[in-house]
Amino acid sequence: MPVPAEELYDQHADDFDAHTALEELPEEFNALLESFVDGLTGPDVLDAGCGPGRDTEYFHTCGLDPVGIDFARGMVEYARAHRPGQYLEMDIRNLAFESDQFDGLWCPATIFFVPTEEMETALNEFARVLRPSGVARIGFKLGEGPVEVEKWGATTMEYHVSEEQARALLDAAGFRVESVSVNTVSPERTFANFYCQRADSA
Ligand SMILES: C[S@@+](CC[C@H](N)C(=O)[O-])C[C@H]1O[C@@H](n2cnc3c(N)ncnc32)[C@H](O)[C@@H]1O
Repeated sequence: MPVPAEELYDQHADDFDAHTALEELPEEFNALLESFVDGLTGPDVLDAGCGPGRDTEYFHTCGLDPVGIDFARGMVEYARAHRPGQYLEMDIRNLAFESDQFDGLWCPATIFFVPTEEMETALNEFARVLRPSGVARIGFKLGEGPVEVEKWGATTMEYHVSEEQARALLDAAGFRVESVSVNTVSPERTFANFYCQRADSA
């Protein structure tokens, strides 16, 4: 029986953090992070699904003003205890922020825990809180439909989509895709990271 992602991540902040240092991640990931920062026109960044706060800390060290959110309380508590920045317990499908509040939306590895039929809700929220001049990097996992994945000796659900589906979802939420970076880490782990702006931006 799959364990909800919230419950699973809640219990494993320490271990997740120990194995996902920036130096250990593929060069491509670091390049995406750096180019995201380069494209910002202001300091307000939302790290959506921040986990233990690695990238929120990076944004902080760049002189930005990041907020990390995660629905797993254990992740938020861990990040608060170990990393600079502001951390809030929140679901990406229901953001407790004003509209047009952020210059950047960073969500490299979280949307695929949201059931496909609810992705549009999260993406609408992302578009709502982003300023018209803002930029977003949103990572999907490519594949077909719901898949059970093993983590920490348990299974949880992920929701993989085709690149075309991801583009259609982003389009429906009011994003204009500027570019996509596809990286295959293993046969079941192909990430498609979309660099987007609001479609109504200049
Ligand atoms: C694979 S981890 C990525 C963490 C971090 N962004 C990183 O790259 O290391 C996914 C995170 O997304 C969080 N998450 C999953 N679904 C979420 C949702 N609907 N709202 C908020 N956080 C969510 C999980 O709790 C977990 O911490």
